[in-house]
Amino acid sequence: MCGIVGYIGTNEAYPVLIKGLHRLEYRGYDSAGVAIVGPDAGLNVFKAKGRVADLEAFCKSKNISGTIGIAHTRWATHGEPSNINAHPHYSQSETLALIHNGIIENYAVLKKELALNGYTFQSSTDTEVLVQLIEYIKVSNKVDICTAVQLALEQVVGAYAIAVIEKGNPDLIIAARKSSPLVVGIGDDAFFLASDATPIIEYTNQVVYLEDEEIAIIRRNKPLKVVSIGNVEKTHEIIRLEMNLSQLEKGGYPHFMLKEIFEQPRTLRDCMRGRINVELTNVVLSGIIDNKEKFLNARRILILACGTSWHAGLIGEYLLEEFCRIPVEVEYSSEFRYRNPIIYPDDIVIAISQSGETADTLAAIELAKEAGAFVYGICNVVGSSIPRNTHSGSYTHVGPEIGVASTKAFTAQALVLTLMALCIGREKKTISEERFLKLLSEINNIPDKIELILQSNDSIKTLSNIFTYAHNFIYLGRGYSYPVAMEGALKLKEISYIHAEGYPAAEMKHGPIALIDNEMPVVVIATNNGAYDKMISNIQEIKARNGRVVAIANKDDTMVKAIADYVIEIPETEECLDPLLSTIPLQLLSYHIAVNKQRDVDMPRNLAKSVTVE
Ligand code: M6R
Repeated sequence: MCGIVGYIGTNEAYPVLIKGLHRLEYRGYDSAGVAIVGPDAGLNVFKAKGRVADLEAFCKSKNISGTIGIAHTRWATHGEPSNINAHPHYSQSETLALIHNGIIENYAVLKKELALNGYTFQSSTDTEVLVQLIEYIKVSNKVDICTAVQLALEQVVGAYAIAVIEKGNPDLIIAARKSSPLVVGIGDDAFFLASDATPIIEYTNQVVYLEDEEIAIIRRNKPLKVVSIGNVEKTHEIIRLEMNLSQLEKGGYPHFMLKEIFEQPRTLRDCMRGRINVELTNVVLSGIIDNKEKFLNARRILILACGTSWHAGLIGEYLLEEFCRIPVEVEYSSEFRYRNPIIYPDDIVIAISQSGETADTLAAIELAKEAGAFVYGICNVVGSSIPRNTHSGSYTHVGPEIGVASTKAFTAQALVLTLMALCIGREKKTISEERFLKLLSEINNIPDKIELILQSNDSIKTLSNIFTYAHNFIYLGRGYSYPVAMEGALKLKEISYIHAEGYPAAEMKHGPIALIDNEMPVVVIATNNGAYDKMISNIQEIKARNGRVVAIANKDDTMVKAIADYVIEIPETEECLDPLLSTIPLQLLSYHIAVNKQRDVDMPRNLAKSVTVE
């Protein structure tokens, strides 16, 4: 949440900063701002409520020249979205400007102390307290800016990625992080700073990921220096990025979300590449093989995640229990970390996260590690915090997912979990060779089957017109389709703002059936699997109460077609692979309903792609 960009080099900073903010807008988009040290060494801050485009409009008449600057796009935590609460924040004397991603938990105590020393505050943010504290320390201790930042951060409780620049000092950016991500890009004659690598990649592929409690001293024409808060110099590894620029563009699609839905045949092929051999006889996940004994002897698997990743985790539970016969529990990271969970040293914890930065999941990982459990990450963003803080893991390899609603990451998470279950199951001999080979061969067909489903896009778009003005939706599924029902409902509510509930179909009778009338669309996943007959009964029960049924059914189905109001056909597959197919039409349905409602599909209100605050 919140995106940070910084630049120091030979070019004008403003265009680099604005472009960077556009790339990071998915992280928060309620206000934005820039601070630039101009050629006269003056420090100018410009900020505006709204999107980055609003900031650009505001800056049109302003003096934005200068070759050093920092910029921020905000997702409000403390204080409503407004011009005043937008970052950067000036210090009292307007000699420092600071941007921040995270939460200063003890800001109230610090603010009180600063007020006693004559400091006043313009905004309601925790961030302004930090910049005032840095100035107070700098002035009262007569130290340089870097030392002032170090001393201030020693007093801070909470999470932060920050960058500070100073009036009269056009050659220095100080940046620091703890629990919020920060990447430094190293160019030929410039440095870049950002919350993730996407604003950096078009200038350089050489980056340094700062570690917790590290401070980057970024000086014009001098090598990058990284020190600890306690001022011990740290070595830093320069990483070469694999990302390419076209992955960050819409590529002719009206929205990133639609592009990402359509990318799924390719992303799933990428995800299985190198993991399933060409003969379709073996699955190798190096993270599993390297830690084989741990998986073979696991007492239990705990899956921790949030949102869509948690839904993928539920699919993982079914897969791992079915094929590996290991008991699995799936928990919301936020619940897990704040109760007193039992964690055994021979537990395996699987942490799932697209961004690799979700604060609750990171904290839950720490808890599991402290208890001695082995932690395995399933993440998408390479080099993000979760892969760096887990013992081992597998990347999903779907490339940057920019639409706030997760689509291609979800199917790849489900695929990685499937491959894990097969890999462990074969090692444990809890899956027969015949079944193993059959599943591998069918996994290989999944991308082609998704291509077929995507051909229904136009008819799903037409269907979406019927439901644009619905106020509520219910999604029902059983077994492997139950997490898909919840995921379908989440997709609809987050981008269209229509209330939607995902439920296990059999639970309908225990309450939600009371909601059903002729205005209630019910999306039913009724593919040809073990629960098919039961789903037919559920559809009958909905129809008996005049509910309107949109069914996801298989191509050759006749029974569902005879009773449902609308049917979206998908190809048949193995039951455990069904989520990889049945999810696709639900993504498209949500997308088109949201577009019909003229919602901001890629940046829905109140949300951010990367939830780096708890
Ligand atoms: O990056 P993560 O996978 O850890 O994010 C978890 C959730 O915040 C995320 O899945 C969220 O629910 C999405 N907006 C869903 O589309």
